[in-house]
Amino acid sequence: AVVVGRRVKSRRKWRKVANVLKELEEGCDTSVGRLRQVVDAMAVEMHAGLASEGGSKLKMLLTYVDNLPNGTEKGPYYALHLGGTNFRVTRVHLTGQPSPVLEHEVERQPIPPHLMTSTSEDLFDFIASSLKEFIAKEGDGSNTSQDRRELGFTFSFPVKQMSVSSGILIKWTKGFSIVDMVGRDVAACLQEALERKGLHVHVAALVNDTVGTLALGHYHDPDTVAAIIIGTGTNACYLERIDAIIKCQGLLTTSGRMVVNMEWGNFWSSHLPRTPYDIDLDAESPNPNDQGFEKMISGMYLGDIVRRVILRMSLESDMFGPISSKLSTPFVLRTPLMAAMHEDDSPDLIEVSRILNDTFEIPDVPLKARKIVVKVCDVVTRRAARLAAAGIVGILKKIGRDGSGGITGGRSRSDMKMKRTVVAIEGGLYSSYTLFREYLHEALNEILGEDIAKHVTLNVTEDGSGIGAALLAASYSS
Ligand code: GLC
Repeated sequence: AVVVGRRVKSRRKWRKVANVLKELEEGCDTSVGRLRQVVDAMAVEMHAGLASEGGSKLKMLLTYVDNLPNGTEKGPYYALHLGGTNFRVTRVHLTGQPSPVLEHEVERQPIPPHLMTSTSEDLFDFIASSLKEFIAKEGDGSNTSQDRRELGFTFSFPVKQMSVSSGILIKWTKGFSIVDMVGRDVAACLQEALERKGLHVHVAALVNDTVGTLALGHYHDPDTVAAIIIGTGTNACYLERIDAIIKCQGLLTTSGRMVVNMEWGNFWSSHLPRTPYDIDLDAESPNPNDQGFEKMISGMYLGDIVRRVILRMSLESDMFGPISSKLSTPFVLRTPLMAAMHEDDSPDLIEVSRILNDTFEIPDVPLKARKIVVKVCDVVTRRAARLAAAGIVGILKKIGRDGSGGITGGRSRSDMKMKRTVVAIEGGLYSSYTLFREYLHEALNEILGEDIAKHVTLNVTEDGSGIGAALLAASYSS
């Protein structure tokens, strides 16, 4: 009787866990029908954000970038990149000729975490010192004349630009919070810090990381119309017709176009599949009710959604043994580790077991529970990737590149000529997480249909956000 009782108990415990998993799967539904609703909502919100200031949760920020560089400039140009996991300093050597390979050097370093919530002076002094060290190492070769150096500043946060080289911080995202910076001109703060360090460097361009990525993508392939970042945070920018930017009537550009920084991380729609885990994550975050799309998609958050599900499972049953306090610590499970569990192909999921032990101090998780953890990672990542795909199609729809617009004379979808359309993409989730990438591509095909999807190319750039900013510094300083 004791054995039977134990078996019943054990079965009940697994049933509870299976129910948590089932609820998660249902809550994360991204059927193609739902994704199409997200596509439509994205396109509608884009219109609303372009129509009036504050017209949508999508800020649709002007960048004043109206011409994308073609690389005819000459000399070394610099870029600083703040806003991802690593802070980066970049130097690009332009030869005056467009070239398929841009010679460049990049130095990366993690941002000391205390600087993310310190003062603007501390942060900018750190940035300026890093540039000073970088320049000090270059010797005389790179900048033979003592000319002023031109620099592009990739600042990956929402900025209200006044010009290509100036703009004020609207709010912080991705865990940064330096209160005295909000409302201040970011480029001016950097310029002052550079001067404090005695550097003869001019901040010629202030750009979002998406805009840098678009600049590099477009430099290599002029069919590039948009850029997406899926890394610590997520965002998109694209080339918009100037007459479609209704909130800024009278704006003139030589090209008739302007890059718009969507800040799509803040997109929201009732069609998004939201679970209680998302609601809790948002409520406990430093920026509740903000960046809702980002919190379902980007690297800063995916691991933490998974942690919340595992915590719930271990509260419901003892499949992970006694509840470890680490399970209640926000952000202990970082997304790269979650990806490693998801993609574990070792026999008996040894890697999953190791990561669960190292991260949460839960030893000897049974194989059945390890398999469930992998499934949880799968559900969370698949939803993220598919939502990102829907966002991309939303942009394509807005600019008439989704195969639905521009059909004249009753021609069918498959007859019509769809222009080759390239989207530059950057960020660790897409470039280093194979299953994420595969899910994203699969969803693009499902939403667009293969006939249309074959005209859409996603092009990964590496360090595009920095190199592109240096290119923009080159074209806007001359
Ligand atoms: C966050 C920032 C945005 C940036 C994105 C990717 O969403 O608000 O400006 O582009 O992260 O780094």
